[in-house]
Parts: sequence; C-alpha cells; structure tokens
Amino acid sequence: MSRVFSGVQPTGNIHIGNYLGALKQFVELQDENECVYCIVDLHSITVPQDPKQLKQHILDVAALYLAVGLDPEKSTVFVQSDVSAHAELAWILMCNAYTGELSRMTQFKQKSKNKESAPAGLFTYPILMAADILLYDTDIVPVGNDQKQHIELTRDIAIRVNNAYGETFVVPEGRFLKEGARVMSLDDPTSKMSKSSPNASSRISLLDSYNQVKKAIMRATTDSEGSIRFDRENKPGVSNLLTIYSAFSGISIEELEKQYDGMGYGALKKDLVEVVWTSLEPIQKRYNEIRHSQELVSVLRDGAERAGAIAEKTMARVKERFGLGL
Ligand code: TYM
Repeated sequence: MSRVFSGVQPTGNIHIGNYLGALKQFVELQDENECVYCIVDLHSITVPQDPKQLKQHILDVAALYLAVGLDPEKSTVFVQSDVSAHAELAWILMCNAYTGELSRMTQFKQKSKNKESAPAGLFTYPILMAADILLYDTDIVPVGNDQKQHIELTRDIAIRVNNAYGETFVVPEGRFLKEGARVMSLDDPTSKMSKSSPNASSRISLLDSYNQVKKAIMRATTDSEGSIRFDRENKPGVSNLLTIYSAFSGISIEELEKQYDGMGYGALKKDLVEVVWTSLEPIQKRYNEIRHSQELVSVLRDGAERAGAIAEKTMARVKERFGLGL
C-alpha cells in the first residue's frame, strides 16, 4: 500500500478547480492506498485571516472533504495545527533549504509582487508544505499543476537530507490528473481559477447555487470563431469549458468535440450547466447534513490522533539522524 498525503487551505470559496485538480483524486485514491488528508490552516495565515472566520473555514473544508466522498474509515482527515510536528519539522527543513531556491518559487514571486517586504512565512511556505509531506513518509501527493514546483522542492530537500544524514525521508511523487489539473478562470481563461479573485463569476464554488453556476458558465469568456474544438493556445475559453465538461462527465474531449460538431457555444454552455450541477447538488446535500454535526468534530479529533501517531515516529527518526534532543 502506498501512503498518500495532500492538503487544502481553509480560505473559503473552494471551487471546481480545487475539486477537479485535487479533491476528486483524494477520493479515487482512498480505496487502494493509505490516505492522509489535511486542512492546512498554518499555511493560510501566511496572509492575514480573520480568526473567527478561519475557524469556520476549517470546518467548511472538513465538511467538504467528507461531502465529496472521503470516508473517515479509509482516510485520515485532520487539521494541520492539531499536529505540532508540522511546524517542528518545518524548522529542521528550513535549515536544509536555501534562500536562492525559495526565491525562485513562482507563487512567492506572484504573491510578493510590488511589495517592498513580505511576511517571512510567505517565503518559507513551501518548506512547511515539504514538512507536511515528508512527515508522513508520503509516496504520492495528489495536487493540481500549480503545486508542481513545490513538490519538486520537497523532493530536492528530501534527497539532500538523505544524502547528508542517511536514509531519513521517502522521496514523494506528485500526481496530476490529465483533465482538471489546471482549471482556468471563467472570465480570463489565461489565468487559473482562484479562490482569491475579486470577481465571483470567474469561478464556480462547490457551494454555489444553481443560478450562480448558470450565471458563471453562461457568461464565461469564449471567442468569436464559433467552432467547438480544443485548442488551449488560440481558444483558451472554449478549451477550458471542454476540460471542465470532460472532467465532470468522464467523456473524453475528443468525444465532446464530435458530439458538439457544428453546434454553437450556447448549446455547449447550457449542457455544461447541467453536467456541473449534477455533480454539485449531491455534494451540497451531504455538506449541509454534516457541516454542523458532532460527527465532523469527532472525525477531525480522531484524525489528528492517527496523524499524530505517524508524525511522532517520523520525528523520532529525524531527531535521531540529526543528533537533536536527549
Ligand atoms: P490550495 O489550497 O491553493 O489548493 C488546493 C488544491 O487545489 C488545487 N488547485 C487547482 N487545481 C486545478 N485547477 C485550479 N485552478 C486549481 N487551483 C487550486 C491545488 O493544486 C491543490 O492541490 N500549498 C497547497 C496546500 C498544501 C499542500 C500541502 C498540498 C499545503 N501542504 C502538502 C499538498 C501537500 C495550496 O495552497 O493548495
């Protein structure tokens, strides 16, 4: 059995990009692997958060994890800050990573652009992510394409430590889906769909109403050519709609191109609304059942205990290799 680890930030607006790039994989992997899924609250405070809202968002994401199909009998689900070893290992890894490699991270460059100074946590963010992954002897990390560079850094750090201190960490592999690894914004299909865009119609959140889904899709940017074919370069809007359609329905893009040959964008969009809603409706139903339940809190408590037991073993090994402690 392989160990799988991944995480999502509790920042609200979990959208179909997060679902198709990450959460959908989480569910697919849980039958055949030992899966550990985290709500990475420590990562979220690299930008200012309202404490009351953050608490709610942690529970929102936990409820969504279960609502999309994670089964707590099969997967360990927990909150990052409930296992203090994440921050402890991050410090040790920080001493084995370089400012040069961190400066090259595109997410840091984007988030600190035009700022004279940025929180140090924003800079060291990828190291905390490496700690998350390495703490669980992870083989596979299911994520969207935007995390590729962070996974590469995690591998580099693991290999570096193993070379310097002897076999300490499992070197993980990223897992990216063919359709869904990069869902683009609906209003600007050249940039990725993001939680933080000020325009709500640029994304479809998992908890959007039918009318919000319809509005976002019907308004989505396309082009003036009028033919439905996949061409990321010249037709990014239509290609994005086809990607979303394919990822939700399981119908290949080639098949969709044939199905919609000679038809207009309106027809494609209208059908896509129904395809997306067919998937979102049952997720929302389950979400509403569990969001305020005691079950949710017990799942997270139990998950933190299980995750903590694995983390403790890794930390003992790491400290022993580094000569730390008594
Ligand atoms: P986060 O919270 O930004 O996103 C959660 C997951 O969703 C994927 N994703 C997308 N996939 C396809 N299209 C998109 N438009 C899109 N936007 C987001 C992300 O790739 C991610 O898989 N640093 C991570 C959280 C993290 C983590 C970890 C992940 C912390 N520690 C350890 C894996 C392992 C992040 O900010 O994800």
